[in-house]
Amino acid sequence: MNGFFQKDVISIRDLGKEELDSIFSATEKIIGLDPNQRREIARGKVLGYLFFEPSTRTRLSFQSAMALIGGTSLGIADVSSSAVQKGESLSDTVRVMSGYTDVLVLRHPLDGSSRFSAEISQKPIINGGSGTEEHPTQAIQDLFTIKREKKKIDGLKIGIVGDLKYGRTVYSLLHGLCNYNVDVHLISPESLKIRKDSTYDIKKKLSYTESTNLDEYIDDLDVLYMTRIQKERFPDEEEYVKVRGSYVIGLDMVKKMKEDAIILHPLPRIDEISTDVDSSKQAKYFEQAEYGKYTRAALLGLILNKNGF
Ligand code: NCD
Repeated sequence: MNGFFQKDVISIRDLGKEELDSIFSATEKIIGLDPNQRREIARGKVLGYLFFEPSTRTRLSFQSAMALIGGTSLGIADVSSSAVQKGESLSDTVRVMSGYTDVLVLRHPLDGSSRFSAEISQKPIINGGSGTEEHPTQAIQDLFTIKREKKKIDGLKIGIVGDLKYGRTVYSLLHGLCNYNVDVHLISPESLKIRKDSTYDIKKKLSYTESTNLDEYIDDLDVLYMTRIQKERFPDEEEYVKVRGSYVIGLDMVKKMKEDAIILHPLPRIDEISTDVDSSKQAKYFEQAEYGKYTRAALLGLILNKNGF
């Protein structure tokens, strides 16, 4: 039996290097399969999505992943059009949805929401972003992109830049990177430094530096991972205004980078990467978004098939 069969995916911390490697191999397999074979993987299965926060890529890449492997999807993309608006609880919504589907993906503004839902749901729950805490499938996609584009993860110098306080993709990526031998540079405004309470485990496993100065590192990085300042998570708009536009990657910055470095971003971007960078050979964020379809198809395929595919 494959280890993912009928399992929840709540935190990247639940996945070791072996599990990550098996998702990466399954992803390569999906990419290489012929479309008719792919469609057998989830034939007759239904993915349910429940999104309490806005999303473009996560929800659509899950839907497109499910279509790719022959399944269908249904769900709630906007809770204002659902019975949640009438006051239905998360637990009732999850319980009902799990009766209609084979696997559920949940996005919710509260930390702990996915773990809570997994206790209620009869079907596996995939965390599609919980509060400021975690976004494990984004980290899987980020690690896969690094591996595919750089042909390795070990030995790389990785700069993670922007909102390190509220960006959940950052925490999942850091926990994922704990499985590898990498040098990480965390670069953020002073007020958006990584949350100390969330780095207890990371500190033991990963070597990283913290700085406010991107210029110091830009020419040495193999991977530049940009993030959006998470405006909606600031308790005070004035605090957001102070840090808005702190780091902007333009072609001037790209020129300072190594020829074979890559620029990633979980997207959406606001102003932290200017659009003229999109055509530079270092820009890989749209490829990264597309790989998300394949990594999610692989994960769904493993969750839904006892003996893998
Ligand atoms: C991220 C998220 O929702 O945390 N988006 C995504 O899923 N690709 C990043 C963000 O919103 O900035």
